Amino acid sequence: MRLDKFICKSTELTRTEAKKLLKKGEVTVNGDVITNPATQVHENNDIRVDGRQLTARKSRYIMLHKPANTICSNVDELYPSVLHYLDVDKAFDMHIAGRLDADTTGLVIVTDDGRWSHNIISPKKDCAKTYRVWSRDVIQPDTIEKFAQGVQLQGEKGLTRPATLNIVSDKEALLTITEGKYHQVKRMFAAVGNKVMGLHREQIGSLLLEQLPEGDWRYLTEEEVNSFK
Ligand code: URA
Repeated sequence: MRLDKFICKSTELTRTEAKKLLKKGEVTVNGDVITNPATQVHENNDIRVDGRQLTARKSRYIMLHKPANTICSNVDELYPSVLHYLDVDKAFDMHIAGRLDADTTGLVIVTDDGRWSHNIISPKKDCAKTYRVWSRDVIQPDTIEKFAQGVQLQGEKGLTRPATLNIVSDKEALLTITEGKYHQVKRMFAAVGNKVMGLHREQIGSLLLEQLPEGDWRYLTEEEVNSFK
């Protein structure tokens, strides 16, 4: 982890304040004065500010039910960030593992553990995400096979990875994918001549949104955290 990030994680200081301290030469790592905020450090290092040893706050792992008209970003844009729902210390120091579009609702995972969230985001890790999709047109049965084979998205090199489509009714289905290309579900439906009218993420890995009300959040259990390792 970057040294400035470590300082933020273990004190009340903001990133800018941490950088100022570093510049002033007030931070030591294993006895050496370090001024570069990008220096990589480990939690086991002896890191001190003004001689006081720092201990990193434990990483946080949270699930949140994202409402529509919010964004999965650390800054507010046209819509406010979902991080505003988290009434925890330094919520904006965390990041969202697998973003949703502003109009998409459902399960998002928020954490400050970048190594852990890699297991959710990286296509190489095969972490399945299940979306409930409401479409404009009737979902044709051959869409199941097309999505299983992979479809060509505009502007992408290869086909999408094999995905599982379960048709619930004429215009509703559950789609499970293991990658997270930009607007992937919407573009997959567009690739077969249909259009997504509503999108809701119900599951990531074995983690289900279940009855968590919109806008509510909770910490993941240890077992849930470990399920992504
Ligand atoms: N695919 C999309 O098109 N949008 C989302 O928000 C998530 C997956």
